[in-house]
Formats: sequence, C-alpha cells, structure tokens
Amino acid sequence: MADWSDCLNFGLTVAKQAGEVVLSAIQQQKEVKLKSSPADLVTETDERVEKLLVDAIRNRYPLHRFIGEESVAAGERVELSDAPTWIIDPIDGTVNFVHRFPFVAVSIAFTVNKQTEFGIVYSCVEDKLFYAQRGRGAFLNGEPLHASGQEDISRCLVVTEIGAERDDLALSTMTSNIFRLLKLPVHGVRALGTAAVDMCQVATGGADAYYHIGMHCWDIAASAFIVQEAGGVVTDTDGSAFDMMSRRVMAASSSAVVLGIAQVIRAFPCRRDDDE
Ligand code: IPD
Repeated sequence: MADWSDCLNFGLTVAKQAGEVVLSAIQQQKEVKLKSSPADLVTETDERVEKLLVDAIRNRYPLHRFIGEESVAAGERVELSDAPTWIIDPIDGTVNFVHRFPFVAVSIAFTVNKQTEFGIVYSCVEDKLFYAQRGRGAFLNGEPLHASGQEDISRCLVVTEIGAERDDLALSTMTSNIFRLLKLPVHGVRALGTAAVDMCQVATGGADAYYHIGMHCWDIAASAFIVQEAGGVVTDTDGSAFDMMSRRVMAASSSAVVLGIAQVIRAFPCRRDDDE
C-alpha cells in the first residue's frame, strides 16, 4: 500500500504558510466580488492563496492534479480522476474573512483512485491545525481526536450552515430543517460560517453532528475525512453513502444520530459539482 506521508507533510507545511497569508490579509481592506449569489463572495486573497498553494504543490509534484474553488470559479471543470488529486479551498469562510469573523480555514484534501488519503483543515485565526491520514487517525495540533460517540439525538449539539443560496426553496428548506430539529428536540443548533471548521467540531466531540446542503466538494472533502478518521460516521443527508460531489453531507457521532437527523431533514435540489 502506498504511503502518502511525504505529500501529507508537504500539505501541512503549505497549509500553514497559506494560513499566514490569510491571517495577515484579514485585517486589511478587501475588494469583494460576488460569485453565484449575494452571499457567495471572493476576494483577491482567495485567488492569491489558491495560486500560492497550487504553484507550490505542482512544483514539487508535477504530475498531480487539482480541484480548486477559485480555479473552478474561473472556468475549470471539476473532474475527480484516479490520479493523485489535491482538492483545495484557499479560504473556507470567505464571508467570515470579509467581516473579520474569526473562523476561516484553509482546506486541503488529497485523493488517489478517487479515495481520500488525507485531509488538512487549518483554522488560521484559532491556530488550529486539524489533519487525518488514512488508517492513522485524526489529530488537532498533534493531539488525537475522537468523535463523541453520542447515540441519543435528544442530547446532541448539531452544527449546520445557512449556506450561500438565497432562493425561496433553499431558504425555506434550510429554515424548516432547523425548526424540525429543534422540535425533536436537540440540545442546540450552531453555525460558524465555514463548513470545514464546522465539521471538524464533530471530529473533536465538541459537536455531535453536522449536516449541510449546497456546499461544494472543496468545502468538505478534507473535514469529512477527518471526521471518519476520528471515529465518526459520514453520509449523505438521507443517510445513504457519502458522495463528495453531491453537495450534501452529514457527519455524526453515530449511525443512530445519522438516522435521527435524516428522518427530519429534507434536501433541496443542487447541481452536482462534477456536472458538465
Ligand atoms: C462556504 C462556507 C460556508 C457555507 C457555504 C460555502 P467558501 O465556503 O463553507 O460555511 O455555508 O455553502 O460555500 O465560499 O467560504 O469557501
């Protein structure tokens, strides 16, 4: 079995370097552009950090491929092949970055034969480096991570996201999902504004579940893997197999919690990331 530790170590180094660029830019004046909706933003720093990451990785691993949020926004296709592939979100939580709300992350997943081999999420304002490698567990700043193992939905703290969609169906589905969850009841519902950091809370055991509809593969590929390596369960929002291109994800402490949430939430239709 191939050992991708060299790539992981390089990924950890460049994720930290990218995080330093994000951190120094967060206090500065930003030029903000809109992408797919009034809540889907991009700044010069998103583009600069993605280029910095891709250039550094390509220089070291010239045959590897990339799926990057801003390259896709600029017109590249999302194509997950069997080749070693780096899936990059230079700033997960761009709206937070624009407002200086202190949860922003660099997210990097690495796949081979379409299977994730490692995931890195660097929450740079908090200086928290989450990572996991296949079969070797998940870590936060070097300390092992474990999901909570909670099985009782009524004792769960659930994280979700408002998302960037602003059409009526997406908004009514998102708000009614939260309503039905709170009525179950659960202990509470939270949203940090970055899918990557949200989902890492499940890996730490600080939250018991996370679900999201409408995000993209670069937002969650790394953190979904970190949750799995921390002993959590990752599925689609209806409890079926997770597909990182589907734009739906659930991550939870146990299968019982996946089932409890899947029974009350609904999804709205989203175009797959790998649709032509
Ligand atoms: C966004 C964040 C946010 C989620 C959006 C994503 P970005 O990613 O993950 O939490 O609600 O759906 O698009 O654009 O900041 O990389």
